[in-house]
Amino acid sequence: MNPDGATLDGARVLVTGASRGYGAAIARALSAQGAHLVLTATDPAHLGRIAQQCADDGSPCNLVALDLADPASIDAAADEVARAVPRLEGVVMNAGVLGPMGPLDAADPDAIARAIDVDFTGQVRLLQRLSPLIADRAGVVLVTSGAAGRAGYGAYALGKAGLQALGLMLREEWAPRGIRVVSVNPGPVRTDMRAEAHPGEDPATVPPPAERVAPVIAVLEGADPGPLVQASEWGLA
Ligand SMILES: NC(=O)c1ccc[n+]([C@@H]2O[C@H](COP(=O)([O-])OP(=O)(O)OC[C@H]3O[C@@H](n4cnc5c(N)ncnc54)[C@H](OP(=O)(O)O)[C@@H]3O)[C@@H](O)[C@H]2O)c1
Repeated sequence: MNPDGATLDGARVLVTGASRGYGAAIARALSAQGAHLVLTATDPAHLGRIAQQCADDGSPCNLVALDLADPASIDAAADEVARAVPRLEGVVMNAGVLGPMGPLDAADPDAIARAIDVDFTGQVRLLQRLSPLIADRAGVVLVTSGAAGRAGYGAYALGKAGLQALGLMLREEWAPRGIRVVSVNPGPVRTDMRAEAHPGEDPATVPPPAERVAPVIAVLEGADPGPLVQASEWGLA
């Protein structure tokens, strides 16, 4: 929860993978509420459009380079976040890659390992590094997928299953600090990753990411809907 305990105005929130897709939609929603954003992408130049939107909203915004496949980049990013803000009232671990799809037997082991580094191993390291910065009673969202553990989804299925396990672990370990750790599955949303995973699909049949950010915002505002939320079911009776 932010320092005032009511709105996100002034709350300091880190969003990884904010350059496009779901992360950009989350950042946009937070900026509209006056949050102080700390946004990451592999190259901060990718964040120009969303940084401009923050500026238009009058929201403070720090841009940080982060490559989740590179431990040195993760450590440097965590140091930079600490220089930018003394505390984080919210963290959204959104960045991810699809990696090689298809049966695991047919996949290049090095490509599998690289994708797991981004989708899981790097996320563990980043949260370890950020932990001292995360405020008591903060909201931490891990963006997962219905593909977690699903056959045919390769490294992505493994990485997301690991991420959800990480969420369960930290939810318990950080409970004494009042930190709410929640995995959110946005479901299908119209992004580059969705197009890569489903190249034959008409994008017009898939909801835009802005329609699926509500549970993420609710967790950052102080809600605790449990360890795993399906965004497509959010708000339904
Ligand atoms: N789209 C869907 O239908 C769907 C469904 C379920 C779950 N999800 C999840 O939602 C999240 C966002 O997905 P999306 O569809 O918005 O994907 P996207 O459009 O491909 O965006 C991915 C984001 O991750 C960042 N990223 C990529 N590689 C990175 C790395 N090595 N280190 C740090 N950041 C990196 C990208 O930043 P750069 O600018 O640096 O490339 C980009 O901002 C992912 O966790 C995904 O698994 C998506």
